[in-house]
Amino acid sequence: VKKGNGIKGLAESGLQSVPKQYIQPLEEQMDMQNIVTHEFIPVIDMSKGDDLKLICDAAEKWGFFQVINHGVPIEVLENVKVATNSFFGLPAEEKLKYTKENSVTNNVRYGTSFVPEAETSLEWKDYLSLFYTSEKEASAFWPKECKEQALEYMKRSELLITRILEALMKGLNVTNIDAPTSTMLMGSKRINLNYYPKCPNPELTVGVGRHSDISTITVLLQDDIGGLYVRGIDGKGWIHVPPITGSLVINVGDALQIISNGRYKSIEHRVAANGSTNRISVPIFVNPRPKDSIGPLPELLEMGEKPIYKQVLYSDYAKHFFNKAHDGKKTIDFAN
Ligand code: SIN
Ligand code: FE2
Repeated sequence: VKKGNGIKGLAESGLQSVPKQYIQPLEEQMDMQNIVTHEFIPVIDMSKGDDLKLICDAAEKWGFFQVINHGVPIEVLENVKVATNSFFGLPAEEKLKYTKENSVTNNVRYGTSFVPEAETSLEWKDYLSLFYTSEKEASAFWPKECKEQALEYMKRSELLITRILEALMKGLNVTNIDAPTSTMLMGSKRINLNYYPKCPNPELTVGVGRHSDISTITVLLQDDIGGLYVRGIDGKGWIHVPPITGSLVINVGDALQIISNGRYKSIEHRVAANGSTNRISVPIFVNPRPKDSIGPLPELLEMGEKPIYKQVLYSDYAKHFFNKAHDGKKTIDFAN
């Protein structure tokens, strides 16, 4: 197999079974007996005027919800999916320009799995991760096959992100979002283009292992294949997040769980590998800035809550997450 074409190259080489590095330990393999079919992640219509309470309730109870009529034009979403396919369809030598070893900037990274150096079993996934600093920097370094489309998706989702975060703050009785709170909630952004190639042994491996995001919130565009599973209420079983054309999946990340002093839940999730087709997804991670110190909101402590998390520098928190394999909800112990 030609180096540099990732899992996509491996999958397209006509391989009959996954190499042993991709075989997950038994307890991490997708157990279809453990899929919850009587519970559903809420779908919230953002055009009805009743979204505030629904958003807060969903963030508290499920940590995940989908939004429809969210204001991000469908063409913008379609264009990002096309751009994702264009990038991963590039010849290996083009994609290799963006690996950890070759990329001219840490803000652009093409790779496979999550942290291969730290993993005992690898994930069946290729990705391009783009950290947003400025339009100028993005224009200089992001791959031209997806730059415009990714930037447009980020820009057109800003209003939605602000609306959701404002609703979540209102639910905490925080009505005046000052500048430090605003940067802690949405001071920086990262967009990932994920490519999950068709897999010969989907039951033995995973697209992405169990983890929670470290964002405040994540806005996820998925195609119509499916495969994202979320830990059910009280940690029981896994709930599928069904693709709904035009919808976006929103989830709470660890940073918001910390900032809300545990009120909003950053829920574990995973992605199954697929035996019959490729899948793509495009999450926007809305984050604090790396240099921000995050902790439970002062307003909550003034109202008499005891802090359940300590203050942590977000760059340290992120470093902790990116230095180990996916391991469920363990990253948050860093803030205990
Ligand atoms: C992830 O949570 O890392 C990816 C989610 C997805 O691809 O659906
Ligand atoms: Fe995730």
